[in-house]
Amino acid sequence: MSVVDIHAHVFPEISRAESRALTGSDEGPWLRTSDGADTGMMMAGTHEYRPVRRSLWDPAARVADLDRLGVDVQVLSSTPLLFGYDLEAEAAADWCRVVNARTLTHCSYAPERLVPLCQVPLQDTESACAMVSEAMRQGFRGVHIGNHLGDRDLDDGALLEFLTHCAQESAAVLVHPWDLPTGPRSSRYMLGWLAGMAAETHLTILSLILSGAFERLPASLRLLFAHGGGSFPYLLGRADNAWHRRDLVRADSAAPPSSYTGRFSVDSAVFDPGALRLLVDVMGAERVLLGSDHPFPLGEEAIGRLVRESALTETEKAAVLGGNAIRFFGLHDLVKEAS
Ligand code: CO
Repeated sequence: MSVVDIHAHVFPEISRAESRALTGSDEGPWLRTSDGADTGMMMAGTHEYRPVRRSLWDPAARVADLDRLGVDVQVLSSTPLLFGYDLEAEAAADWCRVVNARTLTHCSYAPERLVPLCQVPLQDTESACAMVSEAMRQGFRGVHIGNHLGDRDLDDGALLEFLTHCAQESAAVLVHPWDLPTGPRSSRYMLGWLAGMAAETHLTILSLILSGAFERLPASLRLLFAHGGGSFPYLLGRADNAWHRRDLVRADSAAPPSSYTGRFSVDSAVFDPGALRLLVDVMGAERVLLGSDHPFPLGEEAIGRLVRESALTETEKAAVLGGNAIRFFGLHDLVKEAS
C-alpha cells in the first residue's frame, strides 16, 4: 500500500538580510538556524514566530522522518507565513520565485519522494497565472494558495480566473487557511489556529458553493482543502437547511451545498476516528487524502496512524493513504496504486 502525505510544509533557508532585500521590510519572514541544531525558529522580523524542527528546511532530515514513519511520498507546500500576499505585486513575484526555487532545490534531494507545489503572487492575477504555467514546466505538480485575499474570498472574479487557469494548466490547487483572526480572543491558547483555521476554511468552501462559483469553474479543476475542510463537513447539514429555508442563502446557487462535495477534496488531518468517519461519509472515501501538516507541532506526529487505526475498510484506507493522492496529483510515475 503506497503512503502519500499531501499536506506538509517546507520553509527554505532564507536569511534576514535576504528577506529584507526581497520584501523591503524589516518585518519579513526568515529562518533562524544554527549548524547542526535539530531545531530552528521561524522569524517575522525580530519576532520569534514559531520553533520548528530541522525537517522543515533540511531535506535529509525530512527523508529520515519519512523513512521512519513509512511514508513513500510527501507533497510539499511552503509555509503560509511565506505567501507574501501583502507585498507590492512586483516584489511578491520576486519573493515567490525565490521561495519556489528553494522549494524545488529541497525536493531535488529526493525527487522520487518529495513533490513540490509552488506559490504565486495571488494579488496579481496575470503574474500568478504566468508563474503557475512556468512552475508546471519546472516540475511543480500544482500550487499552494491561501484561502482568501483580504476581503476577497476565493469566489472573487480575479481568483476564479486564476483557478480556471490552474485547471487549464492541469495544476492541482491546495487551499490552506492563513491570515487568521487576531485580537485578544483568538490570540490566547492558539485559538486562532484551533478554531480560526477551521472557520476560515469553512467560510471559503461555502463562499465558493453559495456564490455559484462551481457553476463557472471547469469541472476538471483539482481543488483540495487542508485540515479536513475545517468545520465545513461537520456543519454541512446546517448549510443545507439554511439553503432550503432562506432565499438570502440560495440566491446565487443552483443546488443545496451538499450537492457540491464532488467538486473538491479534503485532507485527513482531523485527529479523531469519529471525525474521520464523518469526513469520509460526507466527502466520499475517494475525496479524502492523507494530510499530516508535518513537521509542525500541530501536525500528526505518526503520519497516517489515524487512518491506519480507523474503522475504515481496507479499500477505503488504501484510497485515503495513497491511492487518491496518486490520482489527484498525477504521481503514477513515482508510486504505484494498490491493486
Ligand atoms: Co498546514
